[in-house]
Amino acid sequence: MGLIMLLSHVPAYFKQRRETLLEKAPGSVFLFPANEEFLRNPDVHYPFRQESNFQYLSAFEEAESFLVVMPSGSQGAGKSRMVLFVRARDVEKEMWEGERYGTEGARKVFGADEAYTIDELPRRLPDLLKGAEKIYYRMGLHAQHDKLVIEAMEIQRRSMGRSGKSLPPIADPNEVVGEMRMFKSADEVALLRRACQITAAAHKTAMQEVRPGMNEFEVEALVDYSFRRQGAQRVGYGSIIAGGKNSTCLHYRSNNEVLKDGDLILIDAGAEFDYYTSDITRTFPVGRRFTEGQAKLYSMVLKTQKEAIAMTRPGAKLPEIHKQVCESLIDGLLSMGLLKGDKAEIFKTAGHRRFYPHNTSHWLGMDVHDVGLYHRNGEARVLEPGMVFTIEPGFYSQPGDSAVPSEFAKIGIRIEDDILVTASGCENLTVDAPKEIADIEALKK
Ligand code: GLY
Ligand code: MN
Ligand code: MN
Repeated sequence: MGLIMLLSHVPAYFKQRRETLLEKAPGSVFLFPANEEFLRNPDVHYPFRQESNFQYLSAFEEAESFLVVMPSGSQGAGKSRMVLFVRARDVEKEMWEGERYGTEGARKVFGADEAYTIDELPRRLPDLLKGAEKIYYRMGLHAQHDKLVIEAMEIQRRSMGRSGKSLPPIADPNEVVGEMRMFKSADEVALLRRACQITAAAHKTAMQEVRPGMNEFEVEALVDYSFRRQGAQRVGYGSIIAGGKNSTCLHYRSNNEVLKDGDLILIDAGAEFDYYTSDITRTFPVGRRFTEGQAKLYSMVLKTQKEAIAMTRPGAKLPEIHKQVCESLIDGLLSMGLLKGDKAEIFKTAGHRRFYPHNTSHWLGMDVHDVGLYHRNGEARVLEPGMVFTIEPGFYSQPGDSAVPSEFAKIGIRIEDDILVTASGCENLTVDAPKEIADIEALKK
């Protein structure tokens, strides 16, 4: 894999995003608190990840920070002005916790038009909000920031006296930023592609290394090691490493049981690379071969998944793809005798949910379940080039479902790929993770 430019090292890229944001919402002031650092006891630190919208607009990766994106108010400097509130430089703290950029770094490295220490936020916020036509701020997540915003509004209200004017409305920024994040630029696709390559290689390694007698946590460590040594910063979500009946639990995360010969293992794991995550699921035998029953079910899911990928092109809609997946699975389940009756009736009454209880797709990007509206004006949205989403059909026979014949019992199968919509159709970004039965078995020599 060649060198790849980390977007977070290119401040101009983030300036352009802030410009676009203000083109979409002229006259508005956007407020974003940084993620809080996760501490315990109370000075034990856990890895920090910046809040995705904050990162998307600033690339500033420190906790205890606050981002303001607002109209520039001056000619010639673009439409936007970035004001960053950041942690003060502190020799003693930096000795314990690592370097900080401080206000100077916020300006020089990240291109902030103004930067202040975070303790100045309460005093400066009212002025920054003055004249805003609309304030974009997500209420309800951080009590102390909610209080600051409300206090700043109160100060404004008092200063308005008897003018008869209204305060500006406060709106949630998620949809405006979500709409931007939904369409991936070529540079973002390059990062996603890298996350997908890293993830696919790790899944392939797992297929080669998994043996009966290993514990699920060893496989988790193996996958994580592969991610990290290929340059991924972290996992995009908690890995699901589920052997045997554990694979029927959709969000299984105990990852602590011994893998048995004759069982399948389901691995749902994705690497995050420079804030873009992949999301791959593969299901394969713990031992060398699929049993006949496992192979029948697996082939049904794989066929369904390929059909769904083939449907993906500009103009298609996710609910159409999901409907096709459900119908195809119903066909397969009817032919195997796992469902009985009329196909249309089963679809109408959602009888297939006994074996396939989840949806087929979700948007993918900086977050594994990425931002972006699924419907607009009551209609499912039409797929357009630059959108990225998963296609992840599955089959799950619950351990308590005694009506399932033993060859199909207590089995969970999911096959999940990450799909980019292109001008002419789509590209499977995770094509490097083997999924054909013959290819998987060939790896398990
Ligand atoms: N890994 C979470 C999901 O597949 O949606
Ligand atoms: Mn997924
Ligand atoms: Mn997944």
